[in-house]
Amino acid sequence: MKPNPKRILVTSALPYANGQIHIGHLVEYIQTDIWVRFQRMRGHEVYYIGADDTHGTPIMLKAESENITPKQLIDRVWHEHKRDFDDFMISFDHYGSTDTDENQSLSQTIYLRLRDAGLIEKKSVEQAYDPLKKMFLPDRFIKGDCPKCGAKEQYGDSCEKCGATYNPTDLKNPYSVISGATPIKKTSEHYFFKLSDPRCENFLREWTQVKTALQIEAKNKMREWVGDVGQSTLGDWDISRDAPYFGFEIPDAPGKYFYVWLDAPIGYFGSFKAFCANNQLAFEDWTSPNSPTEMYHFIGKDILYFHTLFWPAMLHFSNFRTPTNVFAHGFLTVDGEKMSKSRGTFITAHSFIEAGLSPEWLRYYFAAKLNASLEDLDLNLQDFVARVNSDLLGKYINIASRSAGFLVKRFDGIVEESAFNHPLILNLQSACEEIQAFYEAREFAKALRKTMELADQVNVYVDSEKPWEIAKRYALDNAPLTGELLQRVCSVTLEAFRILTIYLKPVLPQLAQDVEGFLNIPPLTFDRVHEHLLATHPIQPYRHLMSRVDQQMIDALLDANKAPTV
Ligand code: MSP
Ligand code: ZN
Repeated sequence: MKPNPKRILVTSALPYANGQIHIGHLVEYIQTDIWVRFQRMRGHEVYYIGADDTHGTPIMLKAESENITPKQLIDRVWHEHKRDFDDFMISFDHYGSTDTDENQSLSQTIYLRLRDAGLIEKKSVEQAYDPLKKMFLPDRFIKGDCPKCGAKEQYGDSCEKCGATYNPTDLKNPYSVISGATPIKKTSEHYFFKLSDPRCENFLREWTQVKTALQIEAKNKMREWVGDVGQSTLGDWDISRDAPYFGFEIPDAPGKYFYVWLDAPIGYFGSFKAFCANNQLAFEDWTSPNSPTEMYHFIGKDILYFHTLFWPAMLHFSNFRTPTNVFAHGFLTVDGEKMSKSRGTFITAHSFIEAGLSPEWLRYYFAAKLNASLEDLDLNLQDFVARVNSDLLGKYINIASRSAGFLVKRFDGIVEESAFNHPLILNLQSACEEIQAFYEAREFAKALRKTMELADQVNVYVDSEKPWEIAKRYALDNAPLTGELLQRVCSVTLEAFRILTIYLKPVLPQLAQDVEGFLNIPPLTFDRVHEHLLATHPIQPYRHLMSRVDQQMIDALLDANKAPTV
């Protein structure tokens, strides 16, 4: 570890425990994992924490539809999610759940502190209620005819036919998706977090506009909410739900439950607390208001205001530290369109593995498209095949496969160290700072573009030196000078390959580990860019490092993900 390592806590959003991990989710977990691995490779003390988001109405109803308890459902899904994250090399230090004692007790603490600070208020709310099922209906559980065009079976918030937006109460012939009953209106007491309180308003204006280096798009969006002094449009936030609800009961309000979005972000802390207990870390050092540690949340742009308004306000007014920053990313499209079950582009993580595709192909492709903005990114399947094959196989792996054999066969795998002051090597080393800066700034596309430019230079070198021709000559003349030349060229090439591997390692951790084995070197870090291969550590015989992707695998993948037609 470095002399003064940073202490960094990193999270990705907690996926809902009622569905499978799909490639859209993976944009986020891969993005976070690359950044985390980069920070670890720099020698910082980093903890990457995740958990399943387990509460709420959809999860309760899904369990009911499968005739199991919510606890059984979330337990099963936890194992599926964990398997998928492991498959894609998402290196969580701890993967927990929001349905834990730690999270319940933290949620209660935070709520009670907000209440004692005078920031919780009770108000009566009139809502749609299913008289048969005897429960209040969230908007997406009410359907009916569009009030504008009359289209049937439209959701409570907008019409898919004509695009009109409205309130669930505007629907004609509304019915409960759960029981089919006509919803009635019913009043109940709800608990609100008073975001409109001047203290919250002022805090959030300062936090989003001055204190935190939010992405510019996020900052601007938040400015619309917090407004100028006295112009905030922040409404109070409804944090309670009535029974039946799968979640945590509110301590001083029997029959009322915390809305899932109250305990979900607290789940970052709950999961981290469980990790701390098992790893002799002091949770308070990381979570108290003046903690010298850093805390970053990676999220999708759809859940920005939960993370840049509600969550920091909850933390600040309950005497916890606030995030150092929140990094939002855009949404994934496939071949330019929303992921779709009928086209087979709603690709689950598990199906990707089952179809025999390498997770590192997807990690590389996403990384090659990711930047620090909130822009959406597209997985173009044809481009995926071309990019993986040309960059990873054609440019990178090719460097090793063309030079390692000669070194092993002719020189027992021993490099010629004096070859390493070659300008090509110095040039590769000198890109190290720039590439690190790109990773640090989450400009992964730029980091990889730079790395591939360097790989091009190495290939130009190999093509001009033609080690295979030198080897042929050496086989004929067996002259010491020819041998020396061959050894030098192969040494330079493999040393260049070593440096490129450092630059790719955050993205391709398994491949990098295989390369470390093959080059017979300790784990690569960014500091090691200035070391080099050693004559005392002969390289191992070249083994196959990665295969090509072909279009048929993609076709099979899409077929496997096509919704069964009934
Ligand atoms: N449970 C909430 C998050 C709670 S965090 C305290 C949730 N879950 S989710 O399963 O719907 O999404 C998890 C993450 O994946 C979110 O950050 C979301 O933005 C991201 N993505 C889900 N679909 C996505 C795409 N198609 N593309 C990119 N990211 C996507 O939200
Ligand atoms: Zn309509």
